[in-house]
This record gives sequence, C-alpha cells and structure tokens, in this order.
Amino acid sequence: MRLPNYNEAKDRNKVDITYLNVNNDIDAIYTNKKYFLRTYGCQMNVHDSEQIRFYLEKLGMNSTDTLEDADVVVLNTCAIRENAHDKVIGYLGRCKHLKKEKKDLIIVVMGCMAGQVDVVEDLQKNHKYIDLIIGTNNIYDLPRLLIEKGSKQNIEVYSNSDIVPENITYERDSKISAWVNIMYGCDKFCTYCIVPFTRGRERSRKMECILEECKSLVASGYQEITLLGQNVNAYGTDLNLGYDFADLLEKVAELGIPRLRFVTSHPWNFTDKMIEVIAKYENIMPYIHLPLQSGSSRILKKMNRRYTKEEYQELFDKMKKTIPNAVITTDIIVGFPGETEEDFQDTLDMVEYCKYDGAFTFIYSERKGTASSFMKDDVSNEEKESRLKRLNELVNKYSKESNVKLLDKVVPVLVIGPSIKDENKVYGYTDTMKLVNIEGDESLIGKIIDVKITDAKSFSLDGVVNN
Ligand code: SAH
Ligand code: SF4
Ligand code: F3S
Repeated sequence: MRLPNYNEAKDRNKVDITYLNVNNDIDAIYTNKKYFLRTYGCQMNVHDSEQIRFYLEKLGMNSTDTLEDADVVVLNTCAIRENAHDKVIGYLGRCKHLKKEKKDLIIVVMGCMAGQVDVVEDLQKNHKYIDLIIGTNNIYDLPRLLIEKGSKQNIEVYSNSDIVPENITYERDSKISAWVNIMYGCDKFCTYCIVPFTRGRERSRKMECILEECKSLVASGYQEITLLGQNVNAYGTDLNLGYDFADLLEKVAELGIPRLRFVTSHPWNFTDKMIEVIAKYENIMPYIHLPLQSGSSRILKKMNRRYTKEEYQELFDKMKKTIPNAVITTDIIVGFPGETEEDFQDTLDMVEYCKYDGAFTFIYSERKGTASSFMKDDVSNEEKESRLKRLNELVNKYSKESNVKLLDKVVPVLVIGPSIKDENKVYGYTDTMKLVNIEGDESLIGKIIDVKITDAKSFSLDGVVNN
C-alpha cells in the first residue's frame, strides 16, 4: 500500500536512477476471464494502455468492448482538467452499479488520477468498491497486484519514481504507427499543470535502449514512429551522457523509419540544433506541435512558461524559415487567473501572427496542489466561455484556410485504416499530420501513397489516389 504524496512528487532531488528490467514472465491465472480497458487523456496514456493490455492478455484474459461482460475493468484515467476528472467519476458510477450484481468484478483505477492525493483519498473513502489504484510510475506492478489481490482496496503509487523501466512489452494497437517513450515525467512545473505531480520527475531512457526498440519496430515493418515525452526538448539533460534530443532524433531518423515524429516540444529550449536536424532529414515529418498557452508575456510569466511573446515569435519564424513546409499547431488556455481582456487580445494577436494550422483550446481549470490553484480564479465563467468562443472562431478560420491551400495539390499520405463513416473509403495522415479520407479499399492500408486533395473542411480533407 503506497499512497500518492504531493510533497514527494515535488521533490526533484536528483537521486540516481535505477534502470529496471521489468518482468514479462507472467502466470496466466485469469484464463476464461474478460477484461474491459478504457483510456482517457493524452498519447502518453494511450501508449501506457498498450502496456496495460499486454499484461492483461498475459494473465490469460480476452478483451471485451462491453462493460457488462467484463471480469476485470481497468480505467486509465486523466487529471488534466476538471471535465476529464468528471468523466471518470461518471463512469465509475456505472462500474459500481455493475459490481452490485457481479460481486467478483475487479475494478482497477490507473493513470494520472491515481497520482492525485485528494482524489485518491476520496476514492478510498467514498468508492470502496474499487479494488486497485495504481500510479503511472507503477504500471509494471499491475500483474503482481492482480495476482496478489486481497480483499481490501490496494493503492500503489510512486509519486516520484527513481526508476526507468526497460524491457517493457506492449500490445500495440497499430502495426503501422508506433509510440516510443523516450522519457517519463516532467520537471517544468507550468503553474496550472498537474502532470509534474501525477507523473513525477523527468527521467530519460538511455539512447541505446530507445534505438534498440526503434530498430525492432523498423524490422517489423512499421511505417511511423512517434517519440513520446511531456517535454522532449529536455531529453538527456538528466542523463549527463553528452547527448540531447537532437542527437537522438538524428540517430532514430538514420534507422530508416519512413516517418518519424515527436510530441510534445516546449517552446523553451527548442534548440537551433533541433530545428536543423528536423530540416535535414526527409523522414522527420515537417510537423511541430508548439504549445503557446498564452500570447501575453505577463500571463506566460505567471504560468512559468519561461518564454515571452517575442521569444515565441522568433522561434516560430526560425522554424518556418528553416523547415520547408513546416506545419505548426498549438495549445492555448483562456481564462488563466488574472487574464484581462488585453491579455486575451495578445493571444488573439498571436493566433493572427502564427496562423496556426490547428489548435487545441481550453478553458483554464484549477487543479488542486498546483501553484496557480493558490492564485485567485477571477475570470468569470461567462467571460471564459466568451473568450473560448472568440478564440475558436479565429483558430478555425486559419485551420480551414491552411486546408483550403491544399486543394488540387498532391500530398503524401500514410494510410492507417478503413474509414468509419464510409466503407468505400480509407483514412490516413499527410506528412503534416492532416487527416485525409481517401476513396479506395483496404489494400492501401499501411502504405504511403500520393493523394490528390479534392475537398477541404475545417478539420479534415478528402482526396483520391493520384496515379
Ligand atoms: N506536456 C505537454 C502538454 C500536456 S497537457 C506540453 O507541455 O505541451 C496538454 C495541454 O492541456 C496543455 O498544453 C495545456 O494547454 C492544457 N492544460 C494543462 N493543464 C491545464 C489546466 N489546468 N487547465 C486548462 N488546460 C490545461
Ligand atoms: Fe505540464 Fe508544462 Fe510539463 Fe507540459 S511542460 S506537462 S504543460 S508542466
Ligand atoms: Fe496525459 Fe491527462 Fe496525464 S493529459 S499526462 S493523461 S493528466
């Protein structure tokens, strides 16, 4: 039993990292049982679920998409905003109901909510039907905890782990495009953000281990690798081995994977060397997600983002100049404590300046324990909603404009799967990460093909194979 602890999570005392070879030799003690796995949140969680799925299958279970058929339910949760939290609590209500009828049902809560002290205390007190709560730094403990499962709620959360797990096996969702973790945790402590608490200190995997994993993905025929970290620019700083993210990117590109991507990069410390490497390799996609958060230097300072509006603009211009066809998308928060109409106007001005190809926009949500939770959340809900609406109108305008520019152009698309809406179509992504629905059959899946764009909407494109 190990409870989450914000003080421990805050502790960045650099104790030596242990590189742990996780055990994948798991007894299949849950044969004839079914599991139901539901994932909330970001790519990091989606990828963690691929590890969770491996363990559940190794234990002998089969997957089900119907909650009512499950013997084991795993919720891989997200804590980023209150609405993410509310969704999980709502779903737990359904699980509780089911457990009343099915006494042997095992309910497991994993992901970022498991790292929040106040949330776990609430689950302990008011949701006693939950069997296991497992933190993001303890995923490899899942099989052990399921095997040992006693009659009491067990909580296992390393708030700040000094472990980098290696030898992890994943049950990957795709045979075409793969996620690869390059680091865990985050040390940036943007004042609004819960992630440094739920995922602990920044720890990099060693380059040789990452390359080994990527090599085997290339050998298995993968077409795309996306390197994952909360802040990939920081890769290597904790290792002190003389290499950084640009070096890693270059080494992975040289393995010959047809498409290489990364998320997320922070505008602070996005080095010239990184920009040069992206420009130099054709297989590094010309797509960068560069979260702005706010266009006001005053608010950026309060957010602890470590750059000003002018520094962001300078970086943006450099990327556009050096990387041919660079497409840049962003994240923006409105209604941060103390944000005035003038600050918000600065954000709109930045959107005008950058004309983003796309943006995820959010209303500020106070997260307990973060630095900004001690600031007065003084922008009214009405004002927050109105700013979000005005921002989205502008963002959608530029996103549509950038799509319209592609009309009648021929672009390379990696085909991912059959279209959900139309059985005569497949879907895929351009090098610049735009979603395209293409007329064609399943024989195209897994291939990078030239597509002529025939229609442009705000959030997707239509196209035909260009012969
Ligand atoms: N590590 C990534 C982002 C992780 S969270 C990065 O730094 O870019 C994804 C996005 O959620 C953030 O970029 C931010 O825009 C938003 N976000 C994070 N905390 C939030 C909060 N408390 N309220 C509203 N949006 C938030
Ligand atoms: Fe959160 Fe900032 Fe870290 Fe991103 S860089 S995960 S926004 S603290
Ligand atoms: Fe991701 Fe949500 Fe955690 S966005 S890092 S799953 S809080």
